[in-house]
Amino acid sequence: MTTIQHIQEAAIQPLEQAKSLPFAAYTDPAVLSAEIEHIFLKDWVFVCMEGEVREPGDYFAMTLASEPIMVMRSDDGELRALSNTCRHRGTVILDEGAGQVDRYITCPYHAWAYTKEGALKAIPYNKLIAVDRSEHQLVKYAVGIWNGLVFVNLDRNATPLSGRLAGINKYLQLMQPGTFDQHSPGETEVWQTNWKLAMENAMESYHLFKVHENTLETYSPTRDAYYIAGSSEWTLTGGATKRKRGLIEKIFGGSHNELYDHYVLVSLPPSFVGIISYGSFGWLSAHPIDANTTQVRSGTTYTDRGLDENDETSEFTKAFFQEDKDMCERVQTGMSSKLSKGGKLVDMERVVVDFHQFLGTRLGDLPQTALFEDEAAALWKNAT
Ligand code: FES
Ligand SMILES: [Fe+2]
Repeated sequence: MTTIQHIQEAAIQPLEQAKSLPFAAYTDPAVLSAEIEHIFLKDWVFVCMEGEVREPGDYFAMTLASEPIMVMRSDDGELRALSNTCRHRGTVILDEGAGQVDRYITCPYHAWAYTKEGALKAIPYNKLIAVDRSEHQLVKYAVGIWNGLVFVNLDRNATPLSGRLAGINKYLQLMQPGTFDQHSPGETEVWQTNWKLAMENAMESYHLFKVHENTLETYSPTRDAYYIAGSSEWTLTGGATKRKRGLIEKIFGGSHNELYDHYVLVSLPPSFVGIISYGSFGWLSAHPIDANTTQVRSGTTYTDRGLDENDETSEFTKAFFQEDKDMCERVQTGMSSKLSKGGKLVDMERVVVDFHQFLGTRLGDLPQTALFEDEAAALWKNAT
């Protein structure tokens, strides 16, 4: 059996039988190639926060599945996803990260210039050679926005993002992440770990009491974490937080729903995990560089009625990120073992089982799993 067949076999197991994936799933370059082909080139992938691309000319550029791409706000206010490789000889046009262009997107090599919509506008020093401008537009991709977060799909036949996230919004009415109009980009780091380990670690709350004993556990303890709802497509988990006095009143006014003292953790495979609590939506995004190396980015959207972006907050975040990085790299070292293997996933790792089923649907032909709702789902759905 190939590693991919092993992954499928693991993914098909019901929760009670679910196990860790074979270690080779986290080290084998053939698995990563299949993931790029069937997941990162086919599915909706988180790219940036809408606040980073608010004004005409604002862009965010990154490499997605080896494809240099940009998300660009044009003068008509539309957000577009375009290829970031020049149609002349393929140079990467814009530097990675957030930035701004003035009138045109100009290639640094021979200065071919494109409009913010991706149309070829100007070709310097060309009199004799006919260049059909319509044949030389920047390649376009599907773009979608969900609660102030921008997603791109590189597949020509992409179906809308809203369908991909169908059903999720009704659990999030109370927290209103769509109203968080402030943003702060966090860090971009390189972790020596497979992208799936970074994702699995970000989505489960089982490890908080041990890995984050002096950080996250003091705020959102493992024992108070619970599953809300999920499937192979997305998962919501939650947990009680140790209430920050005064903050709830500041953010939500007079109404004191008990659930305001909880967080919701949103897992959107392949590459987004975010936590919504007290008027902020902090996120982590994991992109494979190679089978053993992952680019991890973080950031936050928030409402200025809530979160104060003070040093204490960012020091706290830095501290638990370092704890996660160290643990993910340590697990990756374990993945090189050929003689040992992983074991059972426990109740608190149901979200990891969902993620494995996501992998099984994309890498094989397993059908999407049906939405499972745990007891807390009713509370969240009826919270408003
Ligand atoms: S490669 Fe871009 S202008 Fe020549
Ligand atoms: Fe963690």
